[in-house]
Amino acid sequence: MTNLARLYSLFDSVELPEDLPYTQCSTWELQFLYLVGRHRLTGRDRIVELGAGGGGSTYMLAMGLDENPAFDRRTGRLHAYDFFRVGKGTFASEKFFTAGHKPEDDNSFLNDFRERLSPFLPFLEIHAGDLWQTSDPDDTSPVEFLHIDIAKTARVFRCVSERFLTRLQPGSVVLHQDFAGPRLPWLHHSTGALLPYIEIAGPPIRSTLAFEVTKPIPGDVLKRVSEDAYTVDEKLDLITAVQDRVDRDHTDGIPFKSVLELAKAYVCHYDGQHRRAWSIAKPLLTDEYLSRTRADHFAQLRKAYEAEPKVSPMSRLKRLVGMG
Ligand SMILES: C[S@@+](CC[C@H](N)C(=O)[O-])C[C@H]1O[C@@H](n2cnc3c(N)ncnc32)[C@H](O)[C@@H]1O
Repeated sequence: MTNLARLYSLFDSVELPEDLPYTQCSTWELQFLYLVGRHRLTGRDRIVELGAGGGGSTYMLAMGLDENPAFDRRTGRLHAYDFFRVGKGTFASEKFFTAGHKPEDDNSFLNDFRERLSPFLPFLEIHAGDLWQTSDPDDTSPVEFLHIDIAKTARVFRCVSERFLTRLQPGSVVLHQDFAGPRLPWLHHSTGALLPYIEIAGPPIRSTLAFEVTKPIPGDVLKRVSEDAYTVDEKLDLITAVQDRVDRDHTDGIPFKSVLELAKAYVCHYDGQHRRAWSIAKPLLTDEYLSRTRADHFAQLRKAYEAEPKVSPMSRLKRLVGMG
């Protein structure tokens, strides 16, 4: 089996097909999905795509598998999960419809997906609906590969961690597609908790962090991750541990140490600690990448901080000496 790090030298060998479905992944991420499918996977255990959307990422992974001599198309399966419909709270885009927009009378793009993925349907298993309903809580079969492009909320991440991360074994490969998203800090602190048991493939590929599991992950670690049982301070330390391991992405466009620092602010923000969140975020205003791409994040954190009741220095002092 190919070491994940070796795939980085093969990016230029991958050409994207002209009929590739609309996708929210970058060219590099799509090339990497192809390379993992083509050179790294076997299909002996579960291959799972969480957040298939209009099918761009699924297509490239499936194309790699299709061209992989070690993958048996008769027995190997690629499991694709998504709502496959647009609507409030789905995080799906109307661009996932082949026409580029939703028809009048239908909010499902499942048929569009099927049509576009038709060359690979013989080994594609589609799970349409909310992940909490479409994934099996009793399935403990090992997962060989996880592409995670679905964990936009803590609620969904809980499902991902309970039902999929718990099935990782030494040799399993994980791609976290939203790793450059500071509003999704569960991706970052959970990775921090897994660090002793994984090997990060190399610099993130644009927004995607890729890693391989190298040691069995103890059950109590997986339980704490899936139950979100870390304190705020522990989460910040776990993110710091990840910062020590990642820097700029493969294309040199994304400064991950800063992105992860902003993710720490969101850990505090979600915990209602808005003063602390802003004290972490404010110094990052001078970061060129973050100020250019995450102005809305700063505005959100500043607004929450400013809405907090202000405590005067005198009453803070009184409280400290036990008079208030
Ligand atoms: C960023 S998009 C995926 C993009 C896709 N990988 C691509 O190549 O363009 C995220 C997807 O997650 C799906 N999603 C989010 N929460 C979900 C849930 N609870 N159950 C099922 N699908 C969900 C949305 O329907 C959406 O299509």
